[in-house]
Amino acid sequence: NRAAMSGTVLVKERQEMRQQEAEAAVDDKAGQKDLWARWNDPMADPDESKFASDRKRRVQSDGIPEWKRAGQPKGQAYGKRTEMTMKQQRESLPVFAFCDRLIDAVRQHPILIVVGETGSGKTTQMTQYLAEAGYANHGIIGCTQPRRVAAVSVAKRVSEEVGCVLGQEVGYAIRFEDCTTPATKIKYMTDGMLQREILLDPDLKRYSAIMLDEAHERTIATDVLFALLKKTVKKRPDLKVIVTSATLNADKFSSYFDDAPIFTIPGRTFPVEILYSREPESDYVDTALVTVMQIHLTEPAGDILLFLTGQEEIDTACEILYERTKALGPNIPELLVLPVYSALPAEMQSSIFEPAPPGSRKVVVATNIAETSITIDHISYVVDPGFVKQKAYDPKLGMDSLIISPISQAQANQRAGRAGRTAPGKCFRLYTEAAYQSEMLPSPIPEIQRQNLSTTILVLKAMGINDLLRFDFMDPPAVNTTLTALEELYALGALDDEGFLTRLGRKMSDFPMEPSLAKVLIAAVDLGCSDEMVSIVAMLNLLNVFYRPKEKQSQADQKRAKFNDPNGDHLTLLNVYNAWKQSGFSTPWCIENFIQARSMRRAQDVRTQIIKIMERYRHKIVSCGHETDRVRRALCAGFFRNAARSEAADAGPRCYKTLLSGTPVYVHPSSVMLGKQAEWVIYHELVLTTREYMRWTTSIEPKWLVEAAPTFLKVAGTGGTMSSRRKHERIQPLHNKFAGEDDWRLSAQRK
Ligand code: CDP
Ligand code: MG
Repeated sequence: NRAAMSGTVLVKERQEMRQQEAEAAVDDKAGQKDLWARWNDPMADPDESKFASDRKRRVQSDGIPEWKRAGQPKGQAYGKRTEMTMKQQRESLPVFAFCDRLIDAVRQHPILIVVGETGSGKTTQMTQYLAEAGYANHGIIGCTQPRRVAAVSVAKRVSEEVGCVLGQEVGYAIRFEDCTTPATKIKYMTDGMLQREILLDPDLKRYSAIMLDEAHERTIATDVLFALLKKTVKKRPDLKVIVTSATLNADKFSSYFDDAPIFTIPGRTFPVEILYSREPESDYVDTALVTVMQIHLTEPAGDILLFLTGQEEIDTACEILYERTKALGPNIPELLVLPVYSALPAEMQSSIFEPAPPGSRKVVVATNIAETSITIDHISYVVDPGFVKQKAYDPKLGMDSLIISPISQAQANQRAGRAGRTAPGKCFRLYTEAAYQSEMLPSPIPEIQRQNLSTTILVLKAMGINDLLRFDFMDPPAVNTTLTALEELYALGALDDEGFLTRLGRKMSDFPMEPSLAKVLIAAVDLGCSDEMVSIVAMLNLLNVFYRPKEKQSQADQKRAKFNDPNGDHLTLLNVYNAWKQSGFSTPWCIENFIQARSMRRAQDVRTQIIKIMERYRHKIVSCGHETDRVRRALCAGFFRNAARSEAADAGPRCYKTLLSGTPVYVHPSSVMLGKQAEWVIYHELVLTTREYMRWTTSIEPKWLVEAAPTFLKVAGTGGTMSSRRKHERIQPLHNKFAGEDDWRLSAQRK
């Protein structure tokens, strides 16, 4: 694949470029002195400004050796960015002019709201300004990101700017991956990670400043942190909280944070011409691809950014674009096609920041991640089909599912803005102006109002926050959602009759994962299969396990069949992990078996992390050997809500109905359960494409469900025409435990 290859070349170039920049920084003695001076806090005790002196030592000793430098080409050949040193690049960002005023405002106010266009330098620069102003001398400067990819890529970038090895002075922490050391002073992390830290240390004593970045995204974790940090600053007046947002309606943030001041960084934006579709489009992917080709063939120079909804869609789109340009022959300018989504390997991600070689154009095909989380320079054309894939709570199913839904007007405007960062641009909206005006919401619904809350509520309960109704949410979740989550936690045994955390619930909260998975791990200890379960949980965490290239599908399927377990996908995942382990964790083995080697290494890391947690809390790691029924029983302990029963054959093959709501669901085409006639199954999650598909499905015995959740399920005792065996197996959910309690009537009034 040519697109992928040019990506690799660009990565190499970029590394060389970085090295040059590092050299330039070392050469630039005056600039360097200036930088060190600013990291020193003039007010601080000389012994205390360790960060500054450490850094000085290290950079001096890390200077690039002369022999290496001799072989390096100088400047010119490397596109635009090399003409600027790292220092010049930093100083060219809009936020730079406001550095001193920002720091003054931070000194004066415990909570500050900062608003600035995407790309103005908030995320990468403000943490450094804080460090330079001395805030790193007394604690860590933390910066949260809603997305893992953003946390990693920003930390990488900032470590380069600071001139340190990633994980030293500048590091990051995402779930199951901690790239920090005791030396870390600037720490990027997902908001979920800080939420876990605050569970263990409500005062966040290790931190001197926290930046809640991308606050406009309104993820659940950020919303919860809003409320918790608002409390923390009252106890710790020295802690600085900065809330940053890319959108202009920050008044809501300000009034929530007791009228905290709003600091606006004026953006440098150019006009963006907006073009709408005349008629509604029936196939947005196809229309998008036609639009991209039209831009490429008719519009003046400038890169293109296309927003699609997910990995599969993006990969297909990239392939088609590549084929179409190839078919047009050598007479048209080159079109570099670059995909961007969370599951993409880091090296490929960094290639999107590279300028396209002269005479060619690049098209970045991205998920919503390119809306505000990452900034790609030199985009002149944006193609916006108007959709996003997001988690939404489906009350009918009683759970989250991923659905493709229309974006909001605010998001549409953010997307359009991406075209006007460096020059005037154009945005092609693949929907009608009427749809924009009347069908799109003004701003997105906060996650807290559209997702399952059981993980969040478990964390809050573990922090001793029991009165969820009076919890200071910026936008409170719907009563029904809260109710379902409480009910779910009760059924899992995490809460008692009165809604207080049980011992089991306490244990579950030690695991940084959804409560049902935590419960499965704990149950696996009792059932003597925790060793197997840790591998399965680690594998479930992966985005891709199997590799199935278009041209070798049948070969890939053949290899895959070797791992299939007749009892389902969970045990199949276990077989893959164990086989890989037997190969000595070999990469060639992965390639030969069409398994994603990178994913497997990640599974291994995650496994190690989970084992550490298990050991810390004294949960035994025991293997069940060939008795894998125990694994399936343990799975029921956490996933009994996701049980489904096979429908009569005339309802269509592979059709099941969920136990909870009777919704028809189907075996995923990639499942080993496809074509097997298991009567009862549980699944890990539902994905909605053309229908509701169960992803990761395993056959079970119905009695395991009753064993797993006696408070939640009972064997129905009704008569009728069923056979006695069937009668015995009829299981029904119990009544809604919490409905009708005073508590909830009260909350209904509040609404
Ligand atoms: O947070 P905000 O959107 O205000 O800006 P930022 O993320 O700090 O980005 C400032 C600049 O840093 C961008 O214009 C990018 O050119 C650059 N950057 C980069 O090269 N690589 C990254 N991973 C992140 C930012
Ligand atoms: Mg940012």
